[in-house]
Amino acid sequence: MMDQRIDVLVVQPILPAQMQQLEAAYRLHHYHSSTDKVAMVRDIGDRIRAVVTTGGKGFPAGLLAQLPALEIVASSGVGTDSIAVEACQARGIPVTNTPDVLNDDVADLGIGLVIAAMRQMPRGHDYVRSGDWARQGMMNFTTTLTGKVLGIVGLGRIGREVADRALALKMRVAYTGRRPQQVAFDYHASVEDLARTSDVLVLTCPGGEETRGLVGARELAALGPDGWLVNIARGSVVDEKALVAALRDGGIRGAALDVYADEPNVDPALTGLPNVVLYPHHSSGSIETRSRMSQIVVDNLAAHFAGRPLLTPLSSPA
Ligand code: 8YV
Repeated sequence: MMDQRIDVLVVQPILPAQMQQLEAAYRLHHYHSSTDKVAMVRDIGDRIRAVVTTGGKGFPAGLLAQLPALEIVASSGVGTDSIAVEACQARGIPVTNTPDVLNDDVADLGIGLVIAAMRQMPRGHDYVRSGDWARQGMMNFTTTLTGKVLGIVGLGRIGREVADRALALKMRVAYTGRRPQQVAFDYHASVEDLARTSDVLVLTCPGGEETRGLVGARELAALGPDGWLVNIARGSVVDEKALVAALRDGGIRGAALDVYADEPNVDPALTGLPNVVLYPHHSSGSIETRSRMSQIVVDNLAAHFAGRPLLTPLSSPA
C-alpha cells in the first residue's frame, strides 16, 4: 500500500518527545544528519510539504527554491533572522515561530550574565576549584549592581522581562528602541546615548539587517572603561572585532555573551580574553521551555494540515 503520509524536511530536530510525535504523524526526512544533502533534496525535494527548523539553524532561500510543494515552515525559536521569511511569504508559505514561551528563560539568563560578569562569578568559580583560595582570599573586587543603570537595547517582550528583573535587583533601567514607549524608564534615541548613560548595556533586540552592527566602536567608546556589555540578542548586532578591541584595550570593562558573529565557531580572540563570560547560545535551553517551543512546532503543523488557524504565524511583511 502506498505511504500516504505528508513528507516533512527536518532541517534541525526539536526535542525527542516532540520528534516522536512528528514521526508518528508524518514521513520525516532528516536533512540535518544527511551526509549527501544535495542528493537528498534532489530525490525528495518535490514531495516536501513542511519544514521543521530552529531559530539557530534557520531556513535559507536556496533550500526554499528546491521545495516546490512546500506549504509551511515551522521554527522553534522566536528569532527569524536566519529564515528566508520574505521569500517564503512571497510564495504564500506561512512561517511560524515560538514567541512568548521563552521570555522568562531568556531574561533570566540575561540577568544571570549581568551578575556573572559584574560579580566575576566564573573567576570565583575557578578560584575555588583551582585551590587558589586556600593560599589567599580572592583579591579581585567586583562591581555592585545596586543603583547602577541597566540600558536595554530593544524593549520588546524579552526586554521588558529583563527590565522587571533589573528593578528587583534595585538597578535603574533606561532603554532605546524604534520609538519611546508608555513606560516609566528613560528613553534614549540612540544606542550611543543609551550606552553613555548605562553601566551595563543589555541587547535584546531582534537580529537581521535592521540591527546589524548596531553596537560598534563608537557605542562601545560611549559605554566606556567602567561599562559592561551583555548580548542575548544576536551576534550580528555587535561589531565583534570592535568588541574584542574594546575588551582587550580596556575600552570597556567586560562583556557576557550568549550569541556570536559566527556560531559555533567563536573567534579565539574573544574566547581567550579574561574579561568575557561565554555561554553557548542557550538562553532558552531549559527542558521546560524547549519542550513548550517544540510542542508549538508540532501543533502548528497539525493545525496547518487540519485546515485550522496557525497558533503563532508571523505576520506578512508590510
Ligand atoms: C534558541 C533563540 O536558542 O528563540 C530564539 O530566537 O535564539 C533561542 O531561543 C534557538 O532558536 C534554538 O535554535
